[in-house]
Amino acid sequence: MPRSVDLVFPRRERVEDRRKELSQRKLLDEYFDHGTLLAVSRLVSQGMFDVVDHPIAAGKEGGVFRASRGSELRALKIYRISNTTFRHLPPYAVEELRREASARNFGGLIFAWTRREHTILGRLADAGVRVPRPYGHFRNVLVMEFVGDAHGAAPRLKDTPVDDPADLYEQLVREFGRMVRTAKLVHADLSPYNTLYHDGQVVIIDVAQAIPADHPNARRLLERDLGNFARFLGRLGHEVTVEEFLAAVGGETVGSPAPEG
Ligand SMILES: Nc1ncnc2c1ncn2[C@@H]1O[C@H](COP(=O)(O)OP(=O)(O)O)[C@@H](O)[C@H]1O
Ligand SMILES: [Mg+2]
Repeated sequence: MPRSVDLVFPRRERVEDRRKELSQRKLLDEYFDHGTLLAVSRLVSQGMFDVVDHPIAAGKEGGVFRASRGSELRALKIYRISNTTFRHLPPYAVEELRREASARNFGGLIFAWTRREHTILGRLADAGVRVPRPYGHFRNVLVMEFVGDAHGAAPRLKDTPVDDPADLYEQLVREFGRMVRTAKLVHADLSPYNTLYHDGQVVIIDVAQAIPADHPNARRLLERDLGNFARFLGRLGHEVTVEEFLAAVGGETVGSPAPEG
């Protein structure tokens, strides 16, 4: 087995300049604890990727890194093993997870969460929803398709100009329609933060908290998801109401009706 540490930010990239090296050191300490390095080298030995190139985004709950497999690029999402990782999750998600995983410790919960994101990405991809294709997972590390090109990762929708808001709306109706009607899932954390925009095409990410469309909370969460986009589209000059949006994606039959008021 290769030394795990050689698989992450290999030296040729690490020494480019001192500041970059220091910040990568910090990321190594923060995200690549012993167990994570073992998971990384296990995935490498399975042929999932050869090396972790550099960070794409670092958040409190985890980080996303670019990896390479020969000339092919991949993305790794690494969940941090800490008891703060689930602080931001809706209680229904954690509840369900505990049932699913019968996990008693945070490690087990996080591995189950990683597996869940892998499963949901697969289900969405199979339904024809544009998401990063999942390739594999081990412990707290998820391997998926890299969205972007050799110049960098695709920007989030919220960070990038949109030339044609009407076309964006059509794409969103198509993707959310497939999500709700074919995959029978509600994303439940959908916003222009969790949507990438690659060559004018939306790609939905960050799906672990998705819930079945027949869940009692599904209708309310779908309306919230669509509301985030209706506001965003409105700011771009494309007005749409949540009711219209809901009808367009075929979401009127989802879950229980929204409470009055
Ligand atoms: N498959 C991917 N390809 C390229 N960039 C990605 C990919 N997945 C995530 N990212 C980047 O990483 C960031 C965080 O990913 P996300 O899944 O939203 O994690 P978090 O749970 O931290 O919000 C995204 O905003 C995006 O910039
Ligand atoms: Mg996110």
